Amino acid sequence: MPQNESHRRILVTGGAGFIGSHTVVALAEAGYIPVIVDDLRNSQPEVLDGLERILGHRVEFHAVDCADEAGMEAVFEAPVYGAIHFAADKAVGESVEAPEKYFSNNIGATAKLTHMLRKAGVQHLVFSSSCTVYGEAKALPVGESAAIQPAASPYGYTKQSCETLLGYCHAAAQGQLGVALLRYFNPIGAHPSAEIGELPIGTPANLVPFLTQSVAGKRAELTVFGQDYPTADGTCIRDYLHVCDLAEAHVAALQWLERNGGAMEAFNLGTGTGSSVKEVITAFETATGLTVPHRFGDRRPGDITAIYADASKAFDLLGWRTKRSLEECLADAWRWQEKLGG
Ligand code: NAD
Ligand code: WQD
Repeated sequence: MPQNESHRRILVTGGAGFIGSHTVVALAEAGYIPVIVDDLRNSQPEVLDGLERILGHRVEFHAVDCADEAGMEAVFEAPVYGAIHFAADKAVGESVEAPEKYFSNNIGATAKLTHMLRKAGVQHLVFSSSCTVYGEAKALPVGESAAIQPAASPYGYTKQSCETLLGYCHAAAQGQLGVALLRYFNPIGAHPSAEIGELPIGTPANLVPFLTQSVAGKRAELTVFGQDYPTADGTCIRDYLHVCDLAEAHVAALQWLERNGGAMEAFNLGTGTGSSVKEVITAFETATGLTVPHRFGDRRPGDITAIYADASKAFDLLGWRTKRSLEECLADAWRWQEKLGG
């Protein structure tokens, strides 16, 4: 439990989004005071009601662009102890169509925010990075020391650039800014209360929301992208982790920063186990007793065959590992889909 009020207020940019909202719950449960900054460009205000039902109180919320220095003044009126920076655009396909948007929001906003944090004397920063920085890794499971591959999309490039940018900011701060770069693998699921979850706008690009929408009848069927990959069942392999496990890793990272003032490290956040698309379908059917309507289609351009994490560094340094099974992830994802009403 954080010691006093001045050690509790944590700025959460993108806190109304999928991972951010679950992290707000984990922070509050750990005794911190999350402060959400989110201009709702990819989320809904109802998320705040869901958070209130889970936590029993309203979370401080600022509907501003985190890159807007004037708009952010109100946030810094009270001391900010640490920051978790989720706010970004995240659609890989869209980033190919509109790279300017991704450079501006993902890199530009991170630079502006870090400047504000340093000006305000904030000493702990947790950043949302991605396993996409590894591309098609040479060896699996992939560890943090694996080579960073040339980015396969503007989105991936922005994550690599932010990691580099934060490395320079960390050096410039001379021990006054600790940074944890968290490289997420594939977060899925939802809070078990079904009060918060993923809100994909339009047609989902990611597997699990498309799958649950297909079961709910909102989509005709799931297309499995390729069954001729060099894997045991021919479908791609990823490392799917429960968003609540991922949320708890942010608290662990913050606490690691508190123990190691001014440090900087990157951490893989995954289960350490790969699952194929076919295995995800089977796990969903086992968890829910429902059938996933699906067909096999062509490969999706840009998909890699397989990736899963060596997450041992997160366990060794942060004391964090995933606790929830794939079936639990999918049962919670389905409960959330049912709540959304198909
Ligand atoms: P999300 O879109 O659900 O959440 C992002 C939130 O940030 C949204 O609520 C959006 O309104 C807000 N936002 C965006 N730009 C903003 C700005 N300039 N100012 C204020 N608010 C802004 O996405 P998510 O899945 O929760 O992802 C969170 C972070 O994790 C992102 O940085 C993303 O790149 C990263 N990430 C996500 C995944 C994934 O599979 N979901 C995987 C790896 C990394
Ligand atoms: C998972 C698997 C698809 C949809 C993306 C981003 C990555 C990171 C996480 C942010 C793949 C297959 C999917 C469908 C399918 N995000 N699939 N039918 O591609 O691993 O990673 O999200 O940093 O940067 O690229 O996730 O959920 O899109 O796909 O068969 O309708 O499901 O081919 O094997 P991906 P995904």
